[in-house]
Amino acid sequence: MKRNLILAIESSCDETAAAVVEEGRTICSNVVSSQIDVHRKFGGVVPEVASRIHIENISVVVEEALQQAQVSMDEITAVAVTQGPGLIGSLHVGVQAAKALAWYYDKPLVPVHHIIGHIYANRFVDELRFPLIALVVSGGHTELVWMKDEWSFEILGTTQDDAIGEAFDKVARVMGMGYPGGPAIDKAARLGHPYYMLPKPRTEKPLDFSFSGLKSAVLQLLERERKKGVSIRNEDLAFAFQEAALQTLLQKTMAAVRQFQPRQLVLAGGVAANSRLREMIQQQILETPQVHLTIPPLWCCTDNAAMIGAAGWTAYCHGVRGDWDLSASPSLEF
Ligand code: KG4
Ligand code: ZN
Repeated sequence: MKRNLILAIESSCDETAAAVVEEGRTICSNVVSSQIDVHRKFGGVVPEVASRIHIENISVVVEEALQQAQVSMDEITAVAVTQGPGLIGSLHVGVQAAKALAWYYDKPLVPVHHIIGHIYANRFVDELRFPLIALVVSGGHTELVWMKDEWSFEILGTTQDDAIGEAFDKVARVMGMGYPGGPAIDKAARLGHPYYMLPKPRTEKPLDFSFSGLKSAVLQLLERERKKGVSIRNEDLAFAFQEAALQTLLQKTMAAVRQFQPRQLVLAGGVAANSRLREMIQQQILETPQVHLTIPPLWCCTDNAAMIGAAGWTAYCHGVRGDWDLSASPSLEF
């Protein structure tokens, strides 16, 4: 019997990834080659370096994904690839690889939006029940997405400035906690206590987010204390920042849930790995027992190609196709 297999490629930031996914739900292989150790030396992702490493790794990762899934290109139904958003040079490597494979093996090419991939990662662990709200929190995104139905997306709220993951990374950097900052803050905050006061972010639109004011408040506090010669209690500052950021995130998410009354709330993106966020959202959802909460396991919160395979299969079924002139789109919209 013919199998419905998507070969998926993801290279939007600093992971070179390829996966084979069956019917959008079953992972046959999921290979991720992370560049974190290289970028750590620079304190953040260096786009030029990232694209060079993607070029070195892409064919190895694709071959490995096919080998682990024990399939050949002939058995692949379609090739899905992250078209954007992300770093232009990084995306370009994945898009070119996908185009070359699809053209050579005469397969349909399916462009996928990175964030839609993050949302569909939830399908590996749960059914998706529509209408749903997805809280998308990553290094480049902070969005509340309304999905009335399969493959239907409407943005209810977004960030007016920094993405939440970006704020975690920048705050960790000025506190000297290294890269990536999110996991470092998460860990430090576990040992922190209420000590520092930080302002609650404000926005004009009730479902929008803003994190740059909070980030600046941390910078100012660090500056003030340093001038006074007072040493900073890193764990307590990480705690104060994380609580302020997550409280506003959840307050808005729950406002959206009350207003739109979805059947399901799903979490998506790298910041969904945050242990305090996972704890808080589980607590908050108790207020609305009719809403089913899905939290993806840690392995599918951060960037991977399996999620692009899950979204890619649904996209394929909805007739989404890329032409041979498909190009990477760093600020691709929904
Ligand atoms: O989804 P992702 O892997 O890449 C993007 O699409 O941006 O998300 C990466 C982001 C980074 O900002 C990283 O610091 C953050 O996710 N992150 C976390 C945690 N793990 C990763 N933020 C807070 N707590 C964590 N445990
Ligand atoms: Zn991502």
